[in-house]
Amino acid sequence: MTMSIRQAGPCFAGEVSGLDLRTPISPDDALAIHRGMDEYAVLAIRGPVLSAEQQMDFTLKLGEIEHAIGTSLRAPEDYRWPTSFADVSNLDRHEKPLPRDDRRRLFAIGNRLWHSDSSFKPTPARYSILHGLSVPSKGGNTEFADMRAAWDALDAETQAECEGQVCEHSQMYSRSLIGFTDFTAEERERFAPVRQTLVRTHPVTGRKSLYLSSHAGGIIGWPVPEARAFLRDLIEHATQRQFVHAHEWQVGDIVMWDNRQTMHRARPFPDQEPRDMRRTTLAGDGPTAAQAA
Ligand code: OGA
Ligand code: MN
Repeated sequence: MTMSIRQAGPCFAGEVSGLDLRTPISPDDALAIHRGMDEYAVLAIRGPVLSAEQQMDFTLKLGEIEHAIGTSLRAPEDYRWPTSFADVSNLDRHEKPLPRDDRRRLFAIGNRLWHSDSSFKPTPARYSILHGLSVPSKGGNTEFADMRAAWDALDAETQAECEGQVCEHSQMYSRSLIGFTDFTAEERERFAPVRQTLVRTHPVTGRKSLYLSSHAGGIIGWPVPEARAFLRDLIEHATQRQFVHAHEWQVGDIVMWDNRQTMHRARPFPDQEPRDMRRTTLAGDGPTAAQAA
């Protein structure tokens, strides 16, 4: 089978065909995936449901894992998967949808805000690889925004204002936007802000992109209200329809995105229907900015 990619979104996002992830992919296929990610920034691969081992094998063919420890409000005894996977489902460990007012569910609703994965970690994520194990009867799309196109479309004056700026990112900030503020002392420490540059340059293509995320709650050296208003304007700009692609999930889909060049968000769905999504994440190369001492 020969692998090929066709464009699926407005100015980015590709759909891969001719790749069966139940068997190990070849080094050539891995290279073609990386090239496709460099170009399209989001790739969808339709196919049968994969075991956790098959998803992990595929992921490790592409790079090094970022572990999902301490990034959600799931306690270790709630984990449905090893910590090398992120559980992006709405299910408890008995496979039942979490109650509407469950704290873990409400925290996870933060995924409905535009974000880039792990921008709240000193070394943020490279790719996220999300596998659809069950999908709800309606809603629940994942939307992606192309942050390179968004950068290109900014006027020169705004680009100059962005260059060199460093933002503070924390999951506490994104959650406060939706009124989730009751963090424990341990969580406040765990979710302490980290620094990220506002403009990134892709290491292979050299294209610049806006590095935005709803986790960003400040710009170093700026008054907070001014920084937040500026970041809000940028997110509004970057998520206009012409920069956005929506993925409509089918069971068995793998959707992977480059967190360095895109933002994404989950869309709502009927809360008592299972939506089971299992994510592996590739680690980034290193910090994008020097951290506070
Ligand atoms: C994620 C995420 C969106 C979704 O897995 O990082 O934000 O649609 N998922 O579940
Ligand atoms: Mn995410």
